[in-house]
Amino acid sequence: MRIAVVTLFPEFFAGPLGVGIVGRAIADGVVAVEPIDLRAHGLGAYRQVDDAPFGGGAGMVMMIEPLARALEPLAATHRVLLSPAGEPLRQPTLDRWAEMPRLTLVCGRYEGIDERVAEHLVDEEVSLGDFVLAGGEAAALAIIEGVVRLLPGVVGNPESTRQESFRGEGLLEEPQYTRPAEFAGWAVPEVLLSGDHARIAAWRREQRLRRTRERRPDLLTDFPEDGSGR
Ligand SMILES: C[S@@+](CC[C@H](N)C(=O)[O-])C[C@H]1O[C@@H](n2cnc3c(N)ncnc32)[C@H](O)[C@@H]1O
Repeated sequence: MRIAVVTLFPEFFAGPLGVGIVGRAIADGVVAVEPIDLRAHGLGAYRQVDDAPFGGGAGMVMMIEPLARALEPLAATHRVLLSPAGEPLRQPTLDRWAEMPRLTLVCGRYEGIDERVAEHLVDEEVSLGDFVLAGGEAAALAIIEGVVRLLPGVVGNPESTRQESFRGEGLLEEPQYTRPAEFAGWAVPEVLLSGDHARIAAWRREQRLRRTRERRPDLLTDFPEDGSGR
């Protein structure tokens, strides 16, 4: 898989792409991540990439021309614009992108991006959540990590990415514990030490439902508890 990232800050990516499972996947040739310097496509001697908004208002808006130039050679890839106004990102979207041979992530800065980019130059517009970042780069890194860990062979045990939050029944994962069985008087649930696999499986499912009901009832609305609609 190849992932291009159109950004005003290509240097943002050097450290994070060198560590952990993403770093290893890049070293193993499973994925290539190419930051593309938007400034190189800027206009004139000053490589201008932004201008004042039509109609007035605070801040600067990223111009369409540099983005059109940067995206032209990437027209055959799946182009994703990062924006607080985009569709909220959820696991099935990452699953879909992980199947694609080429993905392009477009990072905004300043007040935002000329709307014609979203309308004409990308395939999708997504948001990381209901909050505002200073730029799309941190969102792009989150997406790269979320996609790369789904690529075949990247996570040692494939079960890890099949049995986790938002998978299967679409619930949050149950709580996890490891040694010691007691710390500072805080004991792990007895059932997990019982060796009774049927009881453990029943407890885990009950915990998944309880946590989801308490913390993310919206997930149960999407996927009713009785299993209908799954
Ligand atoms: C300061 S933000 C612009 C916010 C914009 N003025 C607004 O009110 O919606 C600059 C850039 O950061 C990125 N960004 C900020 N928040 C984001 C989010 N929640 N999800 C994805 N990208 C985000 C986008 O690429 C955006 O163009």
